[in-house]
Amino acid sequence: MRKLALALAGGAAMAAAFGGGAATAADDPIQTRKAIMQSVGAAAGLGGGMLKGEIDYTPAAGKAAIATMYAASQSYGSFFPEGSNTGDTTAAPAIWDNPVEWQAELEKFASPAQAAFQAAGREGPVDLDAFKAAFGPVLATCKSCHEGYRVKR
Ligand code: HEC
Repeated sequence: MRKLALALAGGAAMAAAFGGGAATAADDPIQTRKAIMQSVGAAAGLGGGMLKGEIDYTPAAGKAAIATMYAASQSYGSFFPEGSNTGDTTAAPAIWDNPVEWQAELEKFASPAQAAFQAAGREGPVDLDAFKAAFGPVLATCKSCHEGYRVKR
């Protein structure tokens, strides 16, 4: 558990760093966006596990999961430049074919993640009910984006 939280904190820092360095990191955007989604997957595992009661809830772990989601959602859209639609990726052509809809889907992820981040940043520890209210809507965004913008292989 402790290990996972530490890995997540690293992931959040990494994703935050990506956010500022979009121009240089875009040298290998596929690699970068996959790494960001892997941090999202880890945060979902931690946060979802706490929601289900499979992992003991602590405010620090809750904040780590939220911070990772927030950082990922802020930077993720920067890693889909023209030409990165082919190669070792499961990103669907719809991303490049329907850029307006894609932006809206990104926003559907960023908006609850930002709200959760603001809620988690307030004074004092966030209790489990507040964590549920903040993190649940973030977890609800995975499915529709993957269905619309990710190809199965
Ligand atoms: C705004 C769209 C979007 C949202 C929201 C989203 N994903 Fe993804 N995800 C993608 C795309 C696109 C890929 C394919 C990445 C690629 O190949 O470039 C992906 C890939 C992944 C991967 C595989 C990464 C790899 O190594 O190839 C994991 C794990 C993942 N997502 C987990 C999640 C979880 C968990 C959530 C919800 C908390 C989530 N995603 C929400 C778009 C999204």
